[in-house]
Amino acid sequence: MSDQQTWTDVDANIADLFVHPDPELDAALEASKTAGMPAIEIAPSHGKLLMLLAMVGGAHRILEIGTLGGYSTIWMARALPPDGRLISLEASADHAKVAAASIENAGLSDRVEIRVGPALGALPKIAKEDVGPFDLVFIDADKENNPAYFDWALKLSRPGTMIVADNVVRYGGLMDDASEEPSVKGMRSFMEMVANEPRVSATAIQTVSLKGHDGFALAVVTGE
Ligand code: SAH
Ligand code: DHB
Ligand code: MG
Repeated sequence: MSDQQTWTDVDANIADLFVHPDPELDAALEASKTAGMPAIEIAPSHGKLLMLLAMVGGAHRILEIGTLGGYSTIWMARALPPDGRLISLEASADHAKVAAASIENAGLSDRVEIRVGPALGALPKIAKEDVGPFDLVFIDADKENNPAYFDWALKLSRPGTMIVADNVVRYGGLMDDASEEPSVKGMRSFMEMVANEPRVSATAIQTVSLKGHDGFALAVVTGE
C-alpha cells in the first residue's frame, strides 16, 4: 500500500470516529466541486482541530485569510457564540459567492462576513475599524504574502491570540531552501519570522491526511 493510501485510510478512520455525519459541511464540499474550485480545503479532521482551537480559546472574533468555498470558515464559525464574528478575506468573487451560499446553508451568515478582494487591501481597512482584536487568525491564502499576513495578524491581535497558518510543510518542499518558487520563499521567510518574533511563542506540526503530507504553524501571542 502506498504511504498516501495509508494516510487516507487512517484519516478516514479518524473522521469516522470524531467527525460525525455532517450534511452542511458535505454540501459545502459538493458546492465547491460543482463550481470547479480546487479541492484544497483542509481535511475534515483538521477542520475539527480548528474548531477545537477556537473553542479552547473562547474565540469571539476570528479572522480568516483565504475563504475558498467556506469549508474551514464553517468549522471555525461553529465555535462562535451567537454574538461572535468571523471575517474571512477572499480575493476571488467567484469563490466568495459559493462560500457565502454554503455559509448561509450552514446557518452561520449572521456571524460570518466575507470580504472580497486581495487580503492586503482589506487588512488595513480592518485595522481602522473597531472589529479587533481577533482571538484566532487562520492564514491560508497566497503563500508568498504570508510574511505580510503575519505582520497584520500581530497588529490585529492581543496577548493570548492564536495565529494558525496552513500548508507550512508541503511534502517537505519547505525544506528546500534553494527553491526560487515565490510560495516556498514566502513560506520560509514566514516561518523564520514567526520563529524569531519575540511577541509570540510558536511551533509547527507536520500532518498527514487525505490531503497528503503538510503541516500547520501555531503561534500564541504572548506580548504586545
Ligand atoms: N481556507 C480554505 C482554503 C483556502 S484556499 C479551507 O481550508 O477551506 C486559498 C484561497 O485563498 C483561495 O480561495 C484563493 O482564491 C484565495 N486567495 C489567493 N490569493 C489571495 C489574496 N491575495 N487575498 C485573499 N485571498 C486570496
Ligand atoms: C494550495 C493552497 C492551499 O491552501 C492548500 O491547503 C493546498 C494547496 C495551493 O495553492 O496549491
Ligand atoms: Mg491551505
